[in-house]
Amino acid sequence: MLGTIISNEETPSTKEFCFVLGPERVVSIGQLIKVRLSHSAQSENNKAGEIVAIVKRITRQNRYYEFAESISQYSKEAKSFETSFPARDWEYTTIFCTILGNYVEGNLTRCGFPPSPGDAVFDVEPEVTKKVLGITDNGLLLGHLLASDLQCTVDISRLLQKHLAVLGMSGSGKSHLVNVIIEELLKRDPNTGRLAVIVLDPHGDYAGFSHPASPFRESTIVVKGDAIQISAAHLSASLLSELVPSLTAAARREYSKLFAKVKEACANEGKPITLDELITASYESTKTNLSDVLDEVSQLKLFGAFDSPGVNIVKPGKLVVFDLSNLNNRAKQVVAWFFGRKLFNQRRQGNTPPFVLVVEEAHLFAREKAKSENSISKPVIESIAREGRKFGACLCLVSQRPVQLSTTALSQCNSFIVMRVTNPYDLQHIGESCEGIDKNSLDAITTLRPGEGIVIGEATNFPTFVKIRPKSTLGASSVKLEDLAKEFESKTVELKPSDVDAFL
Ligand SMILES: Nc1ncnc2c1ncn2[C@@H]1O[C@H](COP(=O)(O)OP(=O)(O)OP(=O)(O)O)[C@@H](O)[C@H]1O
Ligand SMILES: [Mg+2]
Repeated sequence: MLGTIISNEETPSTKEFCFVLGPERVVSIGQLIKVRLSHSAQSENNKAGEIVAIVKRITRQNRYYEFAESISQYSKEAKSFETSFPARDWEYTTIFCTILGNYVEGNLTRCGFPPSPGDAVFDVEPEVTKKVLGITDNGLLLGHLLASDLQCTVDISRLLQKHLAVLGMSGSGKSHLVNVIIEELLKRDPNTGRLAVIVLDPHGDYAGFSHPASPFRESTIVVKGDAIQISAAHLSASLLSELVPSLTAAARREYSKLFAKVKEACANEGKPITLDELITASYESTKTNLSDVLDEVSQLKLFGAFDSPGVNIVKPGKLVVFDLSNLNNRAKQVVAWFFGRKLFNQRRQGNTPPFVLVVEEAHLFAREKAKSENSISKPVIESIAREGRKFGACLCLVSQRPVQLSTTALSQCNSFIVMRVTNPYDLQHIGESCEGIDKNSLDAITTLRPGEGIVIGEATNFPTFVKIRPKSTLGASSVKLEDLAKEFESKTVELKPSDVDAFL
């Protein structure tokens, strides 16, 4: 027994109740507890069973300490307050709970009648916790519940099919969590249904999967930014206007003719179209600034004779990491735009397996308010967000700035894992974007520690606090400033006077 339900003006109700914690008992926020239905409640609810509730808030009270004047007076005297009064004996802990429902014969139904003041409150058995929260036995193991050591395993379809958003401030453990999710996806047995995983990795955080010591190195292909190539044959007028939204209608018409001409010439000579040839042809055009536009495109250094890699590297149970760390922001977006689009089209035609596209720093790739030249990849991510679920094209959007993330994309995510967030604007935005998050859970987000998160939405039946498990891959863990400084100094050769002269 954990404690006894108390009565106050508003509770117990069919939604909430409070109880006073028994001596030497401990509960934590997010923990499930139960109340056996009293006889009156049983007859009102018309069946035997128990009320299952979740701990939302914990407070401590002591009437002895209610009067500031007396505490102030006693603190001036040599005699302590507690030697004069049995103050400690009068401290008590109140637990505020939200009712999840009546748990009867393995099912949770609406609670039709409140528990009674004086009813005893008990711990919930692990099997009931799993059933109530919707934790499965053969899903993706994220870690354990924060309130107990019960493993938190979520169903793959519930977590990913209608897209997942992983939100949290810098250092809260988002990439670590996504590493864990990817490990779980790569570990799956073929007959349990395997997804392909593709990561757009702007900082090289996922290179650890291909490390010689990684258990997943055989299943991983890391594509470095400088090895990525897009065939210039794709650069039709409609694609060029997607890539360069400022392209005028006149320039587009002219380019359309130019492209057809170069395409035919290349076909006759039996060679692939290159950007250089398109640029050379554009010098003839004097009416529009086509050559400037194509010069700008060539600065990206992404267009060549062939596509590399091809989408055939996307395979069930395998991981492809696009390590974009050495590309500039615009080039990163172009890669996301081109490969995201191609991947989705191929998936729609059934040529690629169902996949999860992890978009790290999603606010860079799908920014809510961005100038047109900085929103190249946004329409692609938004269209996968809108239509992907039907085709098994799932998004995992990872962001430390949800406020800056496209609301179209975010609103299509039905599962959220929210790690620590303290910025009030981001918190408010999360509250507005995640259906199913209440004020208490929102407040708890600011108290989470790195590696702790709340699973909200489709993935579980109720918001679930989780401690994410350790990962088995080596990651680009946060490098300490003093280690960087030491590394620099160890490499710095002491200067000789002649070096100084040479420098001067
Ligand atoms: N569940 C966990 N267990 C152990 N260590 C963790 C856990 N989660 C995060 N960490 C550690 O905390 C640090 C920060 O985590 P991580 O890089 O995942 O944060 P992040 O939210 O992705 O930050 P950023 O937004 O800056 O990319 C890392 O060193 C990571 O190893
Ligand atoms: Mg990260």
